[in-house]
Amino acid sequence: MATSGPTASGRIDISLADKVVLITGASRGIGAAMARACVHAGAKVVLASRKQPGLDEVAEELRGAGGTALPIACHTGKPEQIDELFARATAELGRVDALVNNAATNPYFGPLIDTPDAAFDKTVEVNLKGYLSMAQAYVRHLRERDATSGSIVNVASVAGLRAAPMQGIYGMTKAAVVSMTQTLAFELGSSGVRVNAIAPGLVETRFAATLVNNPSLREHFVKRAPLGRHAQPEEIAAAAVYLSSDAASYVTGHTMVIDGGFTIG
Ligand SMILES: NC(=O)c1ccc[n+]([C@@H]2O[C@H](COP(=O)([O-])OP(=O)(O)OC[C@H]3O[C@@H](n4cnc5c(N)ncnc54)[C@H](OP(=O)(O)O)[C@@H]3O)[C@@H](O)[C@H]2O)c1
Repeated sequence: MATSGPTASGRIDISLADKVVLITGASRGIGAAMARACVHAGAKVVLASRKQPGLDEVAEELRGAGGTALPIACHTGKPEQIDELFARATAELGRVDALVNNAATNPYFGPLIDTPDAAFDKTVEVNLKGYLSMAQAYVRHLRERDATSGSIVNVASVAGLRAAPMQGIYGMTKAAVVSMTQTLAFELGSSGVRVNAIAPGLVETRFAATLVNNPSLREHFVKRAPLGRHAQPEEIAAAAVYLSSDAASYVTGHTMVIDGGFTIG
């Protein structure tokens, strides 16, 4: 199989020129920051999340900056909506070159032992089944067009690498995302599809508002991080650009931890 990526000339372009990148959970937070970074790196982006208005706002901003952005409402826990997402993306932009699985939920904050069934089901539906259904639809799409390469980036969390007090079911799904990343990387490598994960620490978004806005909970994270602070979404986005690009042509099965050092503390 032909390889693409850095050459012996020493020139390394972390570029997404001519690539179509599909990002879930792109209406705000880390997903929106990734969409901005991908557009700046030359990609056309497909933006997906449940609610159209938030997507439209991000798409309008990206188009204003000269980018191409296609906002499509899709609940990633619903496989029929995922099929429709890929059909529309293909009809309007021709293909999807790279997938970023970023949309996740965390509806329950409390001891793992008390997790309500409904919260368990919802978290698994979006964070786990949603990621796998998206990967399945993406690989079907690659096979239909005989693509010889591809990239999946799964957004995991440090909550999947360590104990996740009060966020147990969320942490369990994120640990499973790391496992899914490794197995998909193993099984899809011979098809030229790379699969990697990003594990952020605490990032200031709506998702993490309960932690960021609570002084003692924020301290728990920030005190243990050698960099002494939480992150902004933009500080996570660069990794999605790199891992989706040909500059990462030999990187697969990897989980890139971006946590200000939290997990080494
Ligand atoms: N913030 C942190 O501290 C932190 C730390 C580690 C990992 N992460 C991970 O980073 C990722 C992004 O989180 P964030 O902090 O940026 O959260 P956020 O600001 O709350 O954004 C979540 C995004 O996911 C979308 N979404 C939620 N449920 C969905 C569903 N069922 N189908 C499709 N889209 C859905 C939301 O849009 P709609 O409401 O329109 O659906 C929104 O665009 C998640 O995987 C999260 O686990 C976050």
